[in-house]
Amino acid sequence: MAARAMTDSFGRRIEYLRISVTDKCNLRCVYCMPMEGLPWLKRAELLSYEEIVEIVRVMAALGLQRVRLTGGEPLVRRDLPELVAMIAEVEGIEDIALSTNAVLLAEHADALKTAGLKRVNISLDSLRPERIDAIARRPGSHAKILAGLTAAERAGFEPIKVNTVIMRSQNFDEVDDFAQITRERPWHIRFIEVMPTGANLEISRDDFVSCTEVVARLRRIGDLRPVQGPLGNGPATYYRFEGAAGTVGVITPMSHNYCDRCNRMRLTADGLLRPCLFGDIQTNLRDPLRRGDSLVPLIEETLRIKPERHYLVQGSDVGSGRLVALSQVGG
Ligand code: GTP
Ligand code: 5AD
Ligand code: SF4
Repeated sequence: MAARAMTDSFGRRIEYLRISVTDKCNLRCVYCMPMEGLPWLKRAELLSYEEIVEIVRVMAALGLQRVRLTGGEPLVRRDLPELVAMIAEVEGIEDIALSTNAVLLAEHADALKTAGLKRVNISLDSLRPERIDAIARRPGSHAKILAGLTAAERAGFEPIKVNTVIMRSQNFDEVDDFAQITRERPWHIRFIEVMPTGANLEISRDDFVSCTEVVARLRRIGDLRPVQGPLGNGPATYYRFEGAAGTVGVITPMSHNYCDRCNRMRLTADGLLRPCLFGDIQTNLRDPLRRGDSLVPLIEETLRIKPERHYLVQGSDVGSGRLVALSQVGG
C-alpha cells in the first residue's frame, strides 16, 4: 500500500509513469521522426537501469502504481527484460506495460513475459505490407512487425492493443478493414489523432482526421456499442461491434481533450521528469540522483506545477513546447 497519494493541484491522482528508456528508434514513421533521425542522447546522458529503478522506487513510495516503458523504441535498448524484472520487484508497482513498434518483439516476447511484463501496445498503421513499410520508411518492417504481433499473442500477453495513427491520405481508407479484424481476433485497435510536433507539421495540417469522423465511419459498418474496454491506464475510449472478439477505440488528443482525466507523468531517457507530454516544464532528476540528493521535493514540486492541460493547435507547433517528435519524451 502506498504511503501517500500523488495528487496534483487540480485534484488529479497521478499513479502512472511513462518511462522512455531510449530516444532512438529503428523506424522513421512519417508522423514522428525525420528521415535523418534526431540528435541522439549520448550514453552518459542516459539513465542507467539502476537509476530508473531508483526513481521508480522513490515515486512508488509516494503513490506510483503503474509503469509503461516507451521510447523511441524501447526494444532497441539492450537487455530490456532485465529492467522489467527490476521494476517488477519494486513494492507498490502493480502493472508494467510496453509500447513498441514490435520490430524486435518476436526476439524478446518470452523473456519480457518471464520478467514480469503484463501488457503490450503495438503500433500498426496499416494492414498492407507495402503501406506499413512506406509509413515506417524502413523496407522489410512489415514482416518483423507481424511476427512480433504473433509472438506477443503466443507469449500470452493480454490484452493486446494496437495503435493506429490515422492519416487521411495514408490509411483512413483502412478503418473498415481494421474494424473487421476485431470481430475475429481479441485485439483492441485504437485509432489515434495525429498530435502536431516540429517534425510533422505538414501531416498534422493536411492529413489530420478527427476521430469523430472515424467513429462515424465505424458506425456505418455495424452496431457499435460503447464499452468499458480492456485493462489500461490511458486515454482511449472503446466500442465493440456486436459479438466481436475485440474492440475498437479512439484516442482524441485534438478533438476531445482528455486532460481532465490525466493520471500520469513522464520520465525521459535522460532523466527529466515531465508533468505533461507537451509544454516546457521538466525537472532534472538525473543530476540530483547522481549527487545523492533527495528526489522527493523535486517530484512533489513537479507535481504541484503540472499543467491543467495541453495547448496543442492543429497544424502548428505553438503548443508542443519545441518538441520535434514524441519519441523525445516517450509519446
Ligand atoms: P494503456 O491505456 O495503459 O494501454 O496505455 P496508453 O494508451 O496510454 O499507451 P500508448 O503508449 O499505447 O499510447 C497511445 C497513444 O496515446 C499515443 O499516441 C500516446 O502519445 C497517446 N497518449 C498517451 N498518454 C497521453 C497523454 O498523457 N497525453 C496525450 N496527449 N496523449 C497521450
Ligand atoms: N501523434 C499521435 N501519435 C503518435 N505516436 C507517435 N507520434 C505521434 C503523434 N505525433 C504514437 C505511435 C505509438 C504511440 C506510443 O504514439 O504510433 O503508437
Ligand atoms: Fe495529461 Fe498533458 Fe497528456 Fe493532457 S497532454 S493528458 S495534461 S500529459
